[in-house]
Amino acid sequence: MKCSHLISLLGSFLVILSLQAKPQHVTTKSNDVIISLGKDLRERLFPVANKQALFEDDQTSFIKVSQQELAQITEVAHEEFNRCGGFMLHQEEEAVQFWHERGLAFAAQKMLTLNYQINQEKTVKTFISEVKENRIAQVIRKLSSYKNRFYTSDTGVESQTWLYNHWKQLSANRSDVKVFRWNHDGWPQDSIVMEIQGKSSDKIVVGGHGDSVAGWWRRERASAPGADDNASGIATITEIIKVLLDGNYQPQNTLVFVSYAAEEVGLLGSKEMAKSYRESGENVLGVLQLDMTNFNGSDWDIVLISDFTNEAQNIFLGSLIDTYLPELSWGYDKCGYACSDHASWTAQGFPASTPFEAKKGDMNRHIHTSRDTLSRSNDNAEHARKFAKLGVAYIVELDN
Ligand code: BES
Ligand code: ZN
Repeated sequence: MKCSHLISLLGSFLVILSLQAKPQHVTTKSNDVIISLGKDLRERLFPVANKQALFEDDQTSFIKVSQQELAQITEVAHEEFNRCGGFMLHQEEEAVQFWHERGLAFAAQKMLTLNYQINQEKTVKTFISEVKENRIAQVIRKLSSYKNRFYTSDTGVESQTWLYNHWKQLSANRSDVKVFRWNHDGWPQDSIVMEIQGKSSDKIVVGGHGDSVAGWWRRERASAPGADDNASGIATITEIIKVLLDGNYQPQNTLVFVSYAAEEVGLLGSKEMAKSYRESGENVLGVLQLDMTNFNGSDWDIVLISDFTNEAQNIFLGSLIDTYLPELSWGYDKCGYACSDHASWTAQGFPASTPFEAKKGDMNRHIHTSRDTLSRSNDNAEHARKFAKLGVAYIVELDN
C-alpha cells in the first residue's frame, strides 16, 4: 500500500477514535490525541522546550497532540524520515493504564483533567451560610484534650473511636450513610471513614489526618494536643459533614470523608487507602486534603500547596474562592516535599489538592510540640471556618 493511502486510512481511523465515548470526567480538547513516537521524530518536531511529554524515556515519548499537529508529524515522518506514520496512536484509557503499570502515576494524573464547572450557586450559598465557627472550635477542643493522638498510643486509638462515634451520631437518621473503621495491619490506630452513598460509585474524597505527634522520645506518652496539626482539619471536615447532612444533601457521587491514621510517621494510613483505591479501580473525581486550617499566619487567607498536588484542581479551587469567598485572598506556595496525605493520592494517580492555613514560612511554629493548642489561634476557629466553606463549595460543585 502507498503511504498516502495509509495516511488517509489512518485519518479516518483517528476520527472514529476521537469520536469514541470517553468516561465523562475525562476531557481533552476534543481533537487531541495521544501518540508515542521515537526520539528522532520527537526532537525534530517537538523540541523539549516547546512541548512537555506526558511520559518519556530514552527511546519513546508519549505526547498529546492536536489533529493538525498529527498531520504535520505524518508529513515530516514521510518526507524527512521516509516512514509511514512514524508514531503509534493511544487511547487515553490505555495510556493511563500503561503509566500506572509502569508506576508512572504522576504522568497519568497530568492528563486526567476534569471539566471543572461552577454553576451550583444557589445550593453552595445556602450551605456556606450554615457553617458555624463554634462547632469547629468545639471539635478542636475535644480532640486536643487527648494527651496525644499518636498512632501507637491508647489515646491515639481512643481519639479515633471518639470521632467514629461522633460521625455515627451525625448520620444516625440517614440510611445512605456508612461510618466505618479502616483497620491497618501494622499498628493499632484505625483510620475512620464516612461514606455518603451517591447515585454513582465514583468518589470524592475529603480527608485529613487524625493523629498527632510531639518530640522524639517516648512519643506514646508525650503531650501532643495537635490542635492545629491536625484537630483543625478534622474539625473542618466534621463541619462540612454537618452542614451537608443537616441540609439533607443527596450527592450524585459517593462522598468519602476520612480521618487518616498515622500520617505523622510517614503518611502511612493514607498510603494504604490510596493504594487500595487504585488497586480496586476506584474512580476518584478529586481528593481534598485538610491539614492545618486554623492558624492565620499570612496576609493570604488560603494558600494552595502547588507541589505533589493536581494543578487543574488547584485552579478550580482558586476559582471557587473567587466565586464564593471573594472577600478572601489566596495564592500558591510549595511544601517542598511530600508533606501530607495529598501526596499519597497523587502518587497513586488521583487528583489531590491541599488548601493550607498560611504560606509555608508563616505557618504555625508550635506544631509537633505540647504548645499546639487552640490558645495559639485566639481560642476560636475563625480561620478554619473559611476552609469549611471552601470544602462545601468544592464538594457541591465537583459533585454536579
Ligand atoms: N501538617 C504537617 C505538615 C504540613 C505542612 C502539611 C504544610 C501540609 C502543609 C504534617 O502533619 C507533617 O507534620 N508532615 C510531616 C511529613 C510527614 C511525611 C511525616 C512533616 O512535615 O515533617
Ligand atoms: Zn504534623
